[in-house]
Parts: sequence; C-alpha cells; structure tokens
Amino acid sequence: MEENRKKILSLIQPTNTPHLGNYLGAMQNWVKMQEEFDCAYGIADLHSITVRQDPVKLRAQIKESYALLIAAGLDPERSILFVQGHNPNHAELAWILSCYTQFGELSRMTQFKDKSSKHPDNINAGLFTYPVLMAADILLYQADMVPVGIDQKQHLELARNIAQRFNGVYGDVFTMPEPYITQSTAKVMSLQEPTKKMSKSDENPNASVWILDDRDTIIRKFKRAVTDSETEVCAREGKDGIVNLMSIYAAVTDKSFDEIESEFKGKGYGDFKLAVGEAVADKLAPLQSEFQRISNDKAYLEDCMKKGAEKAFRVSRRTLAKVHKKVGFVVF
Ligand code: TYM
Repeated sequence: MEENRKKILSLIQPTNTPHLGNYLGAMQNWVKMQEEFDCAYGIADLHSITVRQDPVKLRAQIKESYALLIAAGLDPERSILFVQGHNPNHAELAWILSCYTQFGELSRMTQFKDKSSKHPDNINAGLFTYPVLMAADILLYQADMVPVGIDQKQHLELARNIAQRFNGVYGDVFTMPEPYITQSTAKVMSLQEPTKKMSKSDENPNASVWILDDRDTIIRKFKRAVTDSETEVCAREGKDGIVNLMSIYAAVTDKSFDEIESEFKGKGYGDFKLAVGEAVADKLAPLQSEFQRISNDKAYLEDCMKKGAEKAFRVSRRTLAKVHKKVGFVVF
C-alpha cells in the first residue's frame, strides 16, 4: 500500500448470495474506488456466525462470495481481497476495542435490536459485540473511507467514536474513517414491500434479486414488483415501489430520473418493469459469466485467498503492534 493514497476498507457477509442492494449499494463502489485508492475488501465470515449457519453451506458461500468479488471486477493484484477469519488480527483488535466500548452504546444499535427480535432464541454475546468487530475491521487498516449502504451508517459512527476515544487516551493511533454512501442506491428496497430494505434474510423469494439469478428469473421478479394503483412513471411521494425501480434503473443505465420519466411517458408500468428487468439482467450478465469461468478454477481462487490473507495480515499487524505498545502490553 502506498502511504500517500487514501485507504478504503469494506466487507460483506457470506450469509447468502449477494443481492442487488449489496451490489448497487456497496460492491459497485468498491470496484470504482480501486482505480484511485488503496483498497482492502473482505468476506465477513466471523460476523456471519452471530446467526446460526449450516457449516457446509457457509463454507460454500464464503468461497462463492470471494469468487464474486473477483467476478464483479475487483483485482486481487491491485486490492487486498481477504477472508476476515484468515487474519487473526481482526478478532484480537476486536477484543481490545471491546474494552473501550460501553455497554450502553452497543445497546442502542438498531441492528442489534432488529436481529435480537428476529432470533429471540439466540441473542448471543457476538450479536451484541458485532459492531466492535466491525470497528476493528475498519481501524486495523487505517481506512479513510468505508463504502457501505445506509444501514451500516450507525455502526460506522460507533467505529468513529471508539477511534476518537482511543486516540484521546493514547494519541493518534487510528485514522478517523468516513462513510462513503451513494445516496441514490444507499437503500435498495424490497421488490415486494418497497418500504422495507432488500435483505438477505427476506423469506419472500420475489423480494430480492440475487446477483446470480438467471435472466428469466430477474425479469419475472421485476414484472411482479409491487408498485401502486396509478399509471405514471415518476418520482413522487407515496410511490415507493416506482421510486425504487427508477433508482435501480438509473443505477444500471446511468440515466437521470428526468430521462426515465420522459422515456416512459404515456407507457404503462408493464413496459417500465420489463425495461428495468432487462437492464438489470444485462448489467449482471458479464459478472455472471466471469463468475462461471473463475469458480471452476479452484486452484486460482485458493491462491488468491492465501495471498490476500498474507497481505491483510501484514498491513493490519502494523496497527495492532502499535496498539499493543500503547495499551502497555509487553512487546518483544
Ligand atoms: P452486509 O453483508 O449486510 O451488506 C454488504 C453491503 O451491502 C450494503 N447493503 C445495501 N445497500 C443498499 N441497499 C440495500 N438494501 C442493502 N443491503 C445491504 C451494506 O450496507 C453493506 O455495505 N456489517 C456489514 C459487513 C461488515 C463491514 C465491516 C462493512 C463487516 N465488517 C467493515 C464495512 C466495514 C454487513 O453485514 O454487511
């Protein structure tokens, strides 16, 4: 990593195949940012076990998610592409930072409240300290910017508070990270309930478009998307479903809302939904064929993972060594 270039860090959980929200809200920015910055991107396997996972499925999904990062355009030579659990520095810094995080702060996290109400039989300590591990991910790499969707903003604010508190005691140890959020795709909504975000854990199969869905499935899901009883394609209050489809269409075609409104003037929702489905399928087609190609090359993927783990360890160890020294551990 070059010292003078800004550093970028972000992770995705391997709890399912990424959906269109993950792709447009986060991954697309990851790809763009690697042109200009020093980037590290990871698969958050440690975070994923805060909810019970099937081990066979989880292992397959970690490999699939990793291959998808490369298929989406991330270059393992240029950026650090790693699996979080392959680098023990994450868990170690998380422990240290947990001693600089207040119980009250963690109790206020909305994701903790949501997830504990969804899984009342498994409100484990990891679910509670999840944001501390996320802060460790970010601060270990001295990230200047963290490209995420809006749902991660609160966790990022906590990471900033922890960094500030630690720096306040020990001097400048951690870089203050800024969230990097693209407003138009910060929260891609469910196709079935457009006031709710598109989510990996949604049980309605038509609510989310998975980035490996085939063309027909993608078009069918968009045709079934819930809209409203009007006919006009325009962005107005109360038209959540249409606004969501317009945002998706804008993101995959680079058209503005004005251009979209005039393109569909006088046409019905049917034509519009079909156009959105086709545009999304076209956008994802190259990623999908690249995924097919590289996921057959197991040796290449394993080699990338190993090299990614080594690079991630090396870069993050510098921060951890500094932390050890500052807090007063014995360092050899
Ligand atoms: P995860 O796996 O839930 O989501 C990965 C990324 O996708 C974004 N995202 C969305 N963006 C727009 N619309 C949506 N409907 C939508 N759903 C998800 C998320 O904001 C995220 O950027 N805790 C994180 C993973 C993580 C992390 C980190 C992120 C672990 N350590 C350090 C940044 C930095 C998570 O569960 O993301």
